[in-house]
Amino acid sequence: MSKILITGGAGFIGSNLTEHFLGQGHQVVVLDNFATGHRHNLEQHSNNPNFMLIEGDIRNNEDCQKAVVGIDYVLHQAALGSVPRSIKDPQTSNEVNVTGFLNMLVAARDAGVKRFIYAASSSTYGDSENLPKVEDIIGKPLSPYAITKYVNELYADIFSKTYGLETIGLRYFNVFGRRQDPNGAYAAVIPLFVKKFMNYESPVINGTGDYSRDFTYIDNVIQMNERAMTTDNNEAINTVYNTAVGDRTTLNQLVGYLKEFLTEYDAEIAKVNVIHGPNRQGDIPHSLASVDKARRLLGYEPTHVIREGLQEAVKWYWENLK
Ligand SMILES: NC(=O)c1ccc[n+]([C@@H]2O[C@H](COP(=O)([O-])OP(=O)(O)OC[C@H]3O[C@@H](n4cnc5c(N)ncnc54)[C@H](O)[C@@H]3O)[C@@H](O)[C@H]2O)c1
Repeated sequence: MSKILITGGAGFIGSNLTEHFLGQGHQVVVLDNFATGHRHNLEQHSNNPNFMLIEGDIRNNEDCQKAVVGIDYVLHQAALGSVPRSIKDPQTSNEVNVTGFLNMLVAARDAGVKRFIYAASSSTYGDSENLPKVEDIIGKPLSPYAITKYVNELYADIFSKTYGLETIGLRYFNVFGRRQDPNGAYAAVIPLFVKKFMNYESPVINGTGDYSRDFTYIDNVIQMNERAMTTDNNEAINTVYNTAVGDRTTLNQLVGYLKEFLTEYDAEIAKVNVIHGPNRQGDIPHSLASVDKARRLLGYEPTHVIREGLQEAVKWYWENLK
C-alpha cells in the first residue's frame, strides 16, 4: 500500500480521488486551504485512520514541505480553476497555479517522492484549431488560466530532465460528476445547469449552443490518475496525456440530455427553456481529444461516455441537492 498526497483533495476531482484511493486501502494525505473546496467533501473519512487532512496553502513552502513527508505519490490537483476567474484576477491565479505548483514540485523533489502526477488542462491547446487534439500540437493560450496550466507542463518537464523527478501531466477535458460544485460565480456548466433546471430556472448558454466539448466523467479521470500512478512503462512517464473520452457533445445536445435525465425525476423540468447570451471571452469553439496516447502507453479505456456519466451525475445531484 502507498502513501498518497492529494493536494486540492477537498475539491471536486481531489475528493473523488481521495475516496477512490482510500477505498483501495492506501493512505491518503490531503492538503487544501478550502479556497473552493469544502469540508463536507471529506467528512466521510474523518474516522478513517488512513486519512489525514492538512489545512494549508500551496503558496506557503512550509505547508508543502509538511505535506510531502513520507509520501510515495503526489496527485497535485490544487489550483484556482476557471478561465473567467483568471481574467478577473490573473495575479492570484498565477500565485496559486504557478508559484504554488513550483513549491509543490520543489517539495516533492526534496522529499524524494516516487512520482508527481498533476492536473494539467485542455486549455493548453489554446487557439489551435486542430481536431482531435493530439498532445504534441498546441496553440497560443487564450487566457491567464491557460498560461498557468501550460507553465505547469514546462516546469514538470524541466524537473524530470534536471532533477530526475518522475512526472506525468493529465490534461483534463471538461470533467463532470458527483460533488462538482454547482454554486458560486465560477461554477462549471453541468452542475450549474442541473441546479437551474431543478429550480425551474432557465440556464444561460453562452452563444448559439453549437460549441462542443469532450465532456469527461469523473470515473475516467480517476482511472487515468491510477494508471499514471501505477505504470511501470518507462516510455509512459515524464510526459502529458489527454484525459478525456474522445467524443464531443454540443451545448445544445448537453441540455437535451440533461432534460431527458432530469425529467425522469420531475416531469415539470421539460417545460424549462434555455436562454442564449453572448459568447464568453477565452472560449474556444470546439474541443475534442484524441486518447490514443493514453490507450497506447497507459492502457486507458474510458468506462463512461457522456450519457452514462450524466445519468449517474444527475442521480447524484437529485439525491444530494434536492
Ligand atoms: N474540472 C475540470 O473540468 C478541470 C479541467 C481541467 C483541469 N482541471 C484542474 O483539475 C484540478 C482540480 O479541479 P476541480 O474541478 O476539482 O476544482 P475545485 O475547485 O473543486 O478543486 C480545487 C481544490 O484546490 C484547493 N485549492 C485552491 N487553492 C489552493 C491553495 N492555494 N492551497 C491549497 N489548496 C488550494 C481548493 O480549495 C479546492 O479544494 C485543478 O488543478 C484544475 O485546474 C479541472
